[in-house]
Amino acid sequence: MDGARDMAEAVLNAVEASGRHYGTGLPMIASENVISPLVRRAVDSDLHGRYAEGLPGKRYYQGCEDFDTIESLAIEAAKRVFNARFANVQPTSGTVSNMAALKALTKPGDRITAVSTADGGHISHARMGAVGLRGLDLTTYPWDAERMEPDVDAACALIREVEPSMALVGASVFLFPMPLQEMADAAHEVGAHVMYDGAHVLGLIAGGAFQDPLREGADVVTGSSHKTFPGPQGGFLLSDSDDEQLQRKLNTAVFPGTNSSYHLHHVAGKAVALAEFEAFGVDYAHDTVANAKALAAALAAEGFDVLAEDRGYTASHQVLTRHGTSDSGAGRHAAALLETAGIVTNMNMLPGDTKAMSPSGLRLGTQELTRHGMGPSEMEEVAALYRRLLIDGEDATRVRLDVRELRSGFADVQYCFEA
Ligand SMILES: Cc1ncc(COP(=O)(O)O)c(C=O)c1O
Repeated sequence: MDGARDMAEAVLNAVEASGRHYGTGLPMIASENVISPLVRRAVDSDLHGRYAEGLPGKRYYQGCEDFDTIESLAIEAAKRVFNARFANVQPTSGTVSNMAALKALTKPGDRITAVSTADGGHISHARMGAVGLRGLDLTTYPWDAERMEPDVDAACALIREVEPSMALVGASVFLFPMPLQEMADAAHEVGAHVMYDGAHVLGLIAGGAFQDPLREGADVVTGSSHKTFPGPQGGFLLSDSDDEQLQRKLNTAVFPGTNSSYHLHHVAGKAVALAEFEAFGVDYAHDTVANAKALAAALAAEGFDVLAEDRGYTASHQVLTRHGTSDSGAGRHAAALLETAGIVTNMNMLPGDTKAMSPSGLRLGTQELTRHGMGPSEMEEVAALYRRLLIDGEDATRVRLDVRELRSGFADVQYCFEA
């Protein structure tokens, strides 16, 4: 009994320690974000323990009347925010929204084209992930390592040659808008559906600060609700099609296809996050991209090797830096050193790397620092902290103090309603 209680205390202590670690440091992982006080209220609610299956008004459980109001508001807000005729807000993650889209639009044994994981594609686009689970025959796009995007002519030629039933576009390393229109034209020519995985860039798309996949040929857009879109953990499934049969297929692929009950408290959190996005999202999205550009330029000025210089380094929330030769593990070493000073990032494979656990690069994201109110001048301060640690070799405990000091001026979440 005491041991069990001790374990519970140990867990809660670690939860609090994690909060302090992030709250006094610089959270710069490109797939993360912080939720607003009102979203937190929705998530930490009685809905946490409740069940719903089906869609608003068509339920298998009693007790859903209030939740029907919540989910209906979330669906309508998602349609407005993403400018989409169809939205399903139930997927419990970006991966689950990908599984649902693949289930709706492919059959086992079909061919699919996608970005390879070595070039920044997500594991759910790979044989080891959702694509393999659906039994699809994968061919990956030729990659333009200078432009950090699929080699558009070769990718279109590949789509025409392979004649897949699905062309999947999108990735986890996402510096620039994908050449979607050209790839979608090639895909539609051979009768393929086009799925755009916007997990990383969904908030930038919704804020009008990136590309507009539903207007550039995507039949369906999938994504996480907690990366650049600043909501609770979860996913969205979107389409601008008014084809009721397709909409029904997408809904059925979510339930019963890939979920039974889903996370009602997260749906409520998504609804609140969507409302806040309608009020503040355009500014947040543009500020996030401006900060990424400022951070990239400042890191280059400090002497770092920042990728894609010829294209202005980035047009998203992400920045990529190279810290040594391919497969040297220099990215892993840099990420570990940064964390000792309270700067949280992740190592990342860059063109030339072949080993995911010893890559040469780092992937940085500016969305969370932006949400805390940092701007381009703070990005210069952040770059200087990187230089002191990784180039000057200054003691991490001294740099940690300055990280703490910088962060202390940016404790609260911005771009949201007051609690
Ligand atoms: C491109 C892409 N798709 C899907 C996902 C999966 O999202 P989630 O972590 O919400 O399952 C990720 C996660 O990083 C991603 O980068």
